[in-house]
Amino acid sequence: MNAGGWLQGEAVLITGGGSGLGLALVERFLAEGAKPSVLERSPEKCEELLRKFAGDVVVTQGDVRSGADNLKAVAATVARFGKLDCFIGNAAVWDHGARLLDTDIDKLEKGFDELFAINVRGYLLGAKAAAPELVKSCGSMIFTLSNSAFYPEGGGPLYTASKHAATGLIRELAFELAPKVRVNGVGPCGMKTDLRGPVALGQQDTRIMDSRSPDAIKAILPLQFFPEPAEFTGPFVLLASRQNNQTLTGVMINADAGLGIRGIRNVAGGLNL
Ligand SMILES: NC(=O)c1ccc[n+]([C@@H]2O[C@H](COP(=O)([O-])OP(=O)(O)OC[C@H]3O[C@@H](n4cnc5c(N)ncnc54)[C@H](O)[C@@H]3O)[C@@H](O)[C@H]2O)c1
Repeated sequence: MNAGGWLQGEAVLITGGGSGLGLALVERFLAEGAKPSVLERSPEKCEELLRKFAGDVVVTQGDVRSGADNLKAVAATVARFGKLDCFIGNAAVWDHGARLLDTDIDKLEKGFDELFAINVRGYLLGAKAAAPELVKSCGSMIFTLSNSAFYPEGGGPLYTASKHAATGLIRELAFELAPKVRVNGVGPCGMKTDLRGPVALGQQDTRIMDSRSPDAIKAILPLQFFPEPAEFTGPFVLLASRQNNQTLTGVMINADAGLGIRGIRNVAGGLNL
């Protein structure tokens, strides 16, 4: 444990902590002195977390779409650490940019239900399960957004709408839970992770970087580098920190390496006319 860390002794529950950004958050929060707990769907990733962190991390195998699994994860965190200081809603799936005109209507119907259940209902139920403990501890919630929470073309309509929905959830909860709980978001841009798509779109085995190259992402980012998941963790530490964040709530940090300064330059839109 780092005695100088910003999150000494803070208990944090992270959904989707088995890979990508969630795993980077587990590692960074540990380095800042926090006590992490994870709710993760993949049994293999849960086993790996237990092996890698040798009992320092509480691991609950479950699905964010389930209220019962969210409650189980909060209970496991409190049983082990005696409290919950921060909830990070992070587990999500992408839609690999499935466009309106190119996607069958039955796939859109089923894809919407599956993707929104994970990306939006999962955040809502996690917030509901965590809120009583966070009110007690005067803690905070942080939700992982995306550049797709702010602009088009970082996904298709399903993913973009789901991340925009998460911004509404953050604003509403920041209002409802004040003055006890700070509620904020962080919107990363592209990074190499295990991010996959919904079964309903046949994308469960396709990873985000299967269809994109680091160079293509770098080329659209004004800061001109392809970020690692760990490079997005700083804003989460800031928002979770009690001494360094006493005033931010309802805030969405746009951690997009400058993408919003010039926008994505596919100005012709999606139709190949
Ligand atoms: N990778 C990117 O380019 C990118 C860009 C912007 C935002 N994001 C966001 O970052 C967050 C983390 O994604 P990532 O890129 O690290 O992907 P990831 O797939 O590596 O991590 C997500 C984790 O969530 C788990 N998960 C998925 N569905 C679940 C469910 N129903 N219940 C419980 N766990 C579940 C997965 O098993 C995985 O371990 C997501 O909110 C994503 O939208 C990612």
